[in-house]
Amino acid sequence: MTPYTIAVLASGRGTNLQALLDAIAAGALPARIVGVFSDKPASGAIALAREAGIATVALRPRDFADRDAHDEALFSAVAAVQPDLIVCAGYLRIISAASVRRFEGRMINIHPSLLPKYPGLDTHARALAAGDAEHGASVHVVVPELDAGPLLSQVRIPVLPGDDAAGLAARLLPREHALLAATCRLLATRRLDITGGRVRFDGHDLAAPLLLDAHDQLQEA
Ligand code: GRF
Repeated sequence: MTPYTIAVLASGRGTNLQALLDAIAAGALPARIVGVFSDKPASGAIALAREAGIATVALRPRDFADRDAHDEALFSAVAAVQPDLIVCAGYLRIISAASVRRFEGRMINIHPSLLPKYPGLDTHARALAAGDAEHGASVHVVVPELDAGPLLSQVRIPVLPGDDAAGLAARLLPREHALLAATCRLLATRRLDITGGRVRFDGHDLAAPLLLDAHDQLQEA
C-alpha cells in the first residue's frame, strides 16, 4: 500500500513539524512528509525540513500582486506533491476560500485554544484574562472561516495559579505535539475520515472531538 502522504504548511519555528517527523521516525505515524510549504523563507520550519531532506517551497507574499496570487502559487506547489493530507502547523496566513475549497476534506489545522473559544491570536492571554480554569489545543478541519471547521480532537490542561501567557504556551506546546501526532495517526490509519467535510471515526459520525489522554491516546468523549 502506498504510504499516506502529508504536506505541512508552517510560518514559524516548526516544533509541530518536528513532532510529526519524530512520530514517523518512531514508527508511531505510518506516513511520509512529502513537502513543507511556507510564506517565510527564513522560518525554522523551512530550515528543519531542509535538514531532514524534505522538499520545500517558500514564497514571500510581497513578491505577489495580492493574496489570491500568492495562495494560487503556493497551493499549486502543494497540489503538485499530491498529498493525502495537508497539515497547517503554525501557518499564520489566512487561506483564501478558493484554496480551502480546492483541498476540501484534506486540510487540518492545529490551534492553541479549546475551540470554539478564542479563534485567532493571543489565545493564552485571552484564556487567562477570562479566568478560565482549563486551557488547551484543538485540531480541526480547515474551512473558509478562520479556526471554525469541524473539530477532530482536543487536549486540555489546567490553568495554574501564577500562570502567564508565555508559561501557559510553553506548558501546552508538548501536549500540542502529542495531539497533532495522534490525530494524524488516526487519519493515516483511516480510523478518522474527513472526506466530504464530514468527520467519521471508526465508521460512525463523530459527535464530539476526541480527547487526548495522559498516555497520548485519543479517546471518544
Ligand atoms: C502552535 O502553537 C500552533 O498551535 C499555532 O502556532 C504554533 C506553531 O508552533 N497555530 P511551531 O511553529 O509548530 O513551533
